[in-house]
Amino acid sequence: MTPLPTDLLDLRSDTVTRPSGAMRAAIAAAEVGDDVLDGDPTTRALEARVAERLGMDAALFFPSGSMANLAAICVHTRPGTELLVDADAHIVHWEMGGAAALAGAQVRPVRGDTPVMTARDLARAARPRGRYEVEAGLVCLENTHNGAGGMVTPLAEMRALAEVARSLALPVHLDGARLWNAHVATGTPLADFAACADTVMVSFSKGLGAPVGAALVGSHEVIRRADMVRKRLGGGLRQSGVLAAAALHGLEHHLAGLASDHANARLLAEALDGVGGARVVPPDTNIVMLDLPTPCAAAIVSEARTAGVRVSAWSPTRIRAVTHRDASRGQIAAAAPRLAEVVARVVHAAG
Ligand SMILES: Cc1ncc(COP(=O)(O)O)c(C=O)c1O
Repeated sequence: MTPLPTDLLDLRSDTVTRPSGAMRAAIAAAEVGDDVLDGDPTTRALEARVAERLGMDAALFFPSGSMANLAAICVHTRPGTELLVDADAHIVHWEMGGAAALAGAQVRPVRGDTPVMTARDLARAARPRGRYEVEAGLVCLENTHNGAGGMVTPLAEMRALAEVARSLALPVHLDGARLWNAHVATGTPLADFAACADTVMVSFSKGLGAPVGAALVGSHEVIRRADMVRKRLGGGLRQSGVLAAAALHGLEHHLAGLASDHANARLLAEALDGVGGARVVPPDTNIVMLDLPTPCAAAIVSEARTAGVRVSAWSPTRIRAVTHRDASRGQIAAAAPRLAEVVARVVHAAG
């Protein structure tokens, strides 16, 4: 077996980052308490800070974004109702059918001919209220959109989506795992995005570089109910301050650095676009999707690994590479031509 290069660069996801020395120091220094019994002070501080940044009443710390999304779905829907969501949303494909299995809600994927569900698509998908139609309970949005290549839904479109939901008397949940990236890429205040939704999930374990954690943000009443759901799902954490300290550190120190991840994604995209007939989805943020002219993604993943770069196969004809704070400009600049060489070689052999 060919030995792997020692400088293997992992671009499979922005979740692969390891806590920095300063983040580990913040973890070590965290003031903690039992958050299930009478509260953890560092978790409270994180929740207050996130609620303030998003301009909402309250926030609740979760072990993962998937659990926070599920809690929001449980709070907003009733069994037998449906949630309207983009066809390629994380909630549809990557959360183990939690909405159906644990909230009893039907997921209805919605999409027209654009890469992400628009207000027009949503309005078209709405069913009339009647005796036999499934009743809708919730609209879920995702910004940035992972499956569409970290695409930003601009504020105007978010407002239009929210307006359609309001006209249907439906609450809106925003999966904002990477809302930080949308904010940094566009300059749109987080609170303006958040105002388009009733609840927002934000993640700390992606671009912000924390090892664990997400938050659900919303009104006092919604967060009170989400707290009960979190406990039911086994997400009541004890000395969670050691995790919240890392998240707080990421929020205070790593947010602005997302701009470098976005610039690095553009660098990578430029190196790959057109190679062997492959096409890049121009990255708005930190996710580079490469569409291949022939189904050979698995071979590219394997050959790229041998060449020192880890990427993932999103589908047989699509490769995903994600930039993050543990992949420096220099590393990306060195990896890009190696990856381009692999793509050209494998596509040629497969064609
Ligand atoms: C858009 C989006 N939503 C939700 C999640 C789930 O987050 P977690 O891995 O913390 O459960 C992810 C994870 O990659 C994601 O990309």
